[in-house]
Amino acid sequence: MRKPFIAGNWKMHKTVADAVNFARRLREAASRCTDRDVLIAPPFTALSAVTEVLKGTGIHVAAQNLHESRQGAFTGEISGPMIAEAGCDYVIVGHSERRTLFGEDDALIARKIEAALGCGLRVIFCIGETLQEREAGLTSGVVERQIKEGLKTLRNDDIKHLVIAYEPVWAIGTGKTATPGQAEEVHASIRTLMGRLFSEAAADSMPILYGGSAKPDNMAELMAEKNVDGGLIGGASLEFDSFFRMVMFDRKD
Ligand code: PGA
Repeated sequence: MRKPFIAGNWKMHKTVADAVNFARRLREAASRCTDRDVLIAPPFTALSAVTEVLKGTGIHVAAQNLHESRQGAFTGEISGPMIAEAGCDYVIVGHSERRTLFGEDDALIARKIEAALGCGLRVIFCIGETLQEREAGLTSGVVERQIKEGLKTLRNDDIKHLVIAYEPVWAIGTGKTATPGQAEEVHASIRTLMGRLFSEAAADSMPILYGGSAKPDNMAELMAEKNVDGGLIGGASLEFDSFFRMVMFDRKD
């Protein structure tokens, strides 16, 4: 049985003080989250302060990006070892905003994933098609290419450190959510492909998250699908109450 996995991606939002306040509220609520994985991805500036607040709670903290080298003359960049030193256990790689706004291609993403795993970080690997690609019937080909290229250098043993987030680009920040059926169709194909490329056991235990305008109102129906194990939530993770409703999506309280 895969545990539900609810992740908040704050993107370029929140001061350190705001991030710490949110993390304190999450820490208080942590005892109610033991049957699920909960993660927040603050901006780099808030990582150390947030990991300090959440130490010992089991709540995960991710960076939103990393450089593929361990160190060097790369002004403005942050490496995997720096992220690990800040207390993070995860890093997001391949988000569509990185792919489209910052020109990251499959080859670079593969190097970043390798670098992250190499310094002990777990990876949330984002994939997904654009609207044009969906309308042209290319969704499964695009997702397959992103997985094959992005995970090129991984071995079966690495998959236990991997979470895949399927985020159709047309749904991110647009208010347009994929239907549970659309999400399930792609999630199931991702799991089948991972089984073929690695092993059935690795594919079976790997969480696959849905991302793209997920909100408190549609979380439960998405999560009801067999292969939707959780969410990577942008906008709706910024307010504590909204995020926490999604964390506790199937609970009465
Ligand atoms: P959204 O973002 O929930 O605001 O659509 C999701 C994401 O980009 O991870």
